[in-house]
Amino acid sequence: MNIIGQKIILRAIEQQDLPLLKIWGNDPEIQRNLGSWHFPVSIDALKKWLENFSFNDINQRFIIDTQEHGPIGTANLVSINWKDRNAFHGMLIGDKKFRGCGYGTDTVLTIMRYAFEELGLERLDTTIIEYNTASLKLYTKCGWAEEGRKENAFFRQNRYWNNVILGITRHNWVQLKPSLSK
Ligand SMILES: CC(C)(COP(=O)(O)OP(=O)(O)OC[C@H]1O[C@@H](n2cnc3c(N)ncnc32)[C@H](O)[C@@H]1OP(=O)(O)O)[C@@H](O)C(=O)NCCC(=O)NCCS
Repeated sequence: MNIIGQKIILRAIEQQDLPLLKIWGNDPEIQRNLGSWHFPVSIDALKKWLENFSFNDINQRFIIDTQEHGPIGTANLVSINWKDRNAFHGMLIGDKKFRGCGYGTDTVLTIMRYAFEELGLERLDTTIIEYNTASLKLYTKCGWAEEGRKENAFFRQNRYWNNVILGITRHNWVQLKPSLSK
């Protein structure tokens, strides 16, 4: 079942998306802003990666698709913990000309609605490198609260940076939803 937002649709990743994923996965500006890390990535490596999680109910990854422009990025719900009912969420708008257009906001709102109202999760987590102001503003705008900082958790460009830990609970989502959905 696709997950429908106001401006975006979250759908499964298909083989034909892999060339775009390769471009985004090898883009230093995008990767510098993400908590994960990998060596240069090939189509073959991405094929194996895709096979690994396609039937996996712990780690789910989606294409952020739009009617007007096609695929513009990816979003995930990973480390889904079905007992304690939480998950980790991350995203990227890979095509830079579509940043600042509200697609990030709609993606986070759509992920929250799906996680809390369809999967019945209790909380969502994310982490952001301290210099990623765009991402910090995006999640704060969507009601996520900073819950702490891990000092010197990321090594990028020859120095360490802090890891900002953010989260949102179902309770906060319910309270904020009327104002967020406007
Ligand atoms: C972070 C990211 C997902 C934001 O997506 P986006 O579609 O540009 O976000 P939106 O257009 O919905 O903007 C949301 C808010 O973020 C802020 N924002 C967006 N881009 C910004 C920038 N470059 N600098 C400062 N603030 C920014 C704005 O305050 C905006 O709120 P407003 O519309 O009320 O002013 C996108 O920049 C991105 O993919 N970056 C690279 C990968 C990444 O950092 N992923 C997140 C890892 S934690």
